[in-house]
Amino acid sequence: MKLKIAVLAGDGIGPEIVAQALNVTKAIAKKFGHKLSHQAAIVGACAIDAVGDPYPEATHALCMDSDAVLFGAIGSPKYDNDPSAKVRPEQGLLAMRKKLGLYANIRPVTTFPSLIHQSPLRADLVEGADFMCIRELTGGIYFGRPQGRSEDGTTAYDTCVYTVEEIERIIRLAYSYALKRNKKVTVVDKANVLCTSRLWRQVAQQLEKEYPEVTTEYMFVDNAAMQIIQWPKRFDVMVTENMFGDILTDEASVITGSLGMLPSASIGIHTSVFEPIHGSYPQAAGKDIANPLATILSAALMFEYAFNLQAEGQLIREAVDASMAAKVITEDIAESGKAYKTSEVGQWIVDYIQKK
Ligand code: IPM
Ligand code: MN
Repeated sequence: MKLKIAVLAGDGIGPEIVAQALNVTKAIAKKFGHKLSHQAAIVGACAIDAVGDPYPEATHALCMDSDAVLFGAIGSPKYDNDPSAKVRPEQGLLAMRKKLGLYANIRPVTTFPSLIHQSPLRADLVEGADFMCIRELTGGIYFGRPQGRSEDGTTAYDTCVYTVEEIERIIRLAYSYALKRNKKVTVVDKANVLCTSRLWRQVAQQLEKEYPEVTTEYMFVDNAAMQIIQWPKRFDVMVTENMFGDILTDEASVITGSLGMLPSASIGIHTSVFEPIHGSYPQAAGKDIANPLATILSAALMFEYAFNLQAEGQLIREAVDASMAAKVITEDIAESGKAYKTSEVGQWIVDYIQKK
């Protein structure tokens, strides 16, 4: 099969982790006889520095013209610490999501046997936890207008907007995954306070009737934040709006043992994007110490979701599990044992795939 991917490494540790995920992707393509072509483009702070635009038109054109996008991370302290900056790296990521129509961000939360004892949660609580968070990605307060400040600068406002259509398509997607999994959907909202959340609940309650084989439950986001920690195994498919999903999935990553482990797939109208959920970790940039596994696992999702190549994705997962079992891991998950470099972990996984 011909696989044409766009590689958007971005900022901070992005280039280092994406380099490893790309090597793994190449090794898999070779092993399974696929013809891989890949092309890089700029996004985020580095794109602002280069051309003044965090998601340049040329980058968008490449994404549109590719079968999948492998994405690293964006963000830089230069902008984080300057709230008055007019152009921000994050706008690049948001523009990409919007222009590619990536309305669903799928974040699978699973545990890794060798990391369970490192979770800050009790092993018996997290062992076997396996749920999927589906985060709406192109609506809500991230994109609602008006957004801004009053002229005298003393007031600021954001607007949360959702249409029935936006809610319906994401809830339907949640049901489609629940049907393939354990047939349970948790709709997370704040319907006791927010009008948009009440619309979510109303739409979900209508759709619920079409999926009688799926159990639907409704949960306020504050309660969900607690239950993710208290009883993560109760969840199967969780679906929620943009900002709630952003926050809850960082929280949920703790279950896996490290934020450095959680991959994601953003899917929708045009080319799908595969990226780790963690950020650009600027303190670690260039040091070859960042955990590449979330990005490598995102490459596994790319094979499975974008190309429908299940065995390829599975072999990546197997190789990642093997690297952890062999304790070839980066410092964030190495505890007191030896910590390996980003590139060493990537190379070990490539070698494993080649030997298979
Ligand atoms: C994420 C990130 C982004 C988000 C930031 C970098 C804009 O936190 O993908 O979760 O908030 O969506
Ligand atoms: Mn986030």
